Amino acid sequence: MIDPNGRVMMVSGANRGIGAALAERFHSDGWALSLGARNREELEESVTRWGDDNVRCYHYDALNSSTADAWVEETLSDFGRIDGLTNNAGVGHMESLSDLSEEILDEMWSVNVKGPLRLIQRTLPHLASCGEGRIVNVVSLSGKRVKGTFAPGYAMSKHALLALHHAVRHATFEHGIRVTAICPGYVETDMTASFGVDPSIMIQAADLAETVATIVRLPNTATVAEILMTCEPEVLG
Ligand SMILES: NC(=O)c1ccc[n+]([C@@H]2O[C@H](COP(=O)([O-])OP(=O)(O)OC[C@H]3O[C@@H](n4cnc5c(N)ncnc54)[C@H](OP(=O)(O)O)[C@@H]3O)[C@@H](O)[C@H]2O)c1
Repeated sequence: MIDPNGRVMMVSGANRGIGAALAERFHSDGWALSLGARNREELEESVTRWGDDNVRCYHYDALNSSTADAWVEETLSDFGRIDGLTNNAGVGHMESLSDLSEEILDEMWSVNVKGPLRLIQRTLPHLASCGEGRIVNVVSLSGKRVKGTFAPGYAMSKHALLALHHAVRHATFEHGIRVTAICPGYVETDMTASFGVDPSIMIQAADLAETVATIVRLPNTATVAEILMTCEPEVLG
């Protein structure tokens, strides 16, 4: 297994939900962390209890491409390297087909697809130069199937993210970069709070993080392309 000590992982949307759980788990494994969020002050507040100089917080808004440039540049300036990128930040609008506006779709396309593409493109040379770069794309089961009439725009954006994921996986393999898509069903976070689904049957973000933390430490000879994690019976089709 790869030793995370001395390696730098970037995590987007690390202030709450799945991103916060991933950051916490990576931190306990010894990764140095470059965390990005829209509200940098709030993010800094949430990690002060760790009291760790190897955890730094940066402003990242997927709707503003210059923040992606600055986040990558500042990470390199502060840490001198980038070994991992976790594309977690995402937005989920659950409008039905008839209510799905172009504005809503544009926002999901920008945050869920263009944001990860931008960060991947900016970090690739650095992930390649370390020889064991890791990319985690937090997709969704909504990137694998369309569940009845549920959230078609969200599913469109997550299908596009999964296509990007596989394109990156193929393009970077020879450079030692291993790319994993995480495709969970319901996870108990703010995103699912209004779904009317019993939270007690949902995946816990900490359990998802435990799985991801293991995958990113696997050697280059054991790559995991996709993880499908569900908390309920899934009917595909
Ligand atoms: N919860 C689920 O059931 C589930 C299932 C499958 C996949 N996912 C995916 O998991 C990821 C995390 O979701 P979550 O469940 O943890 O939801 P969440 O609690 O709503 O968190 C969403 C995160 O994305 C960030 N974000 C939203 N828009 C952004 C933007 N324009 N720029 C930068 N960051 C932005 C949020 O930042 P702010 O705090 O600033 O809003 C927050 O950190 C998403 O990609 C989501 O699609 C979730």
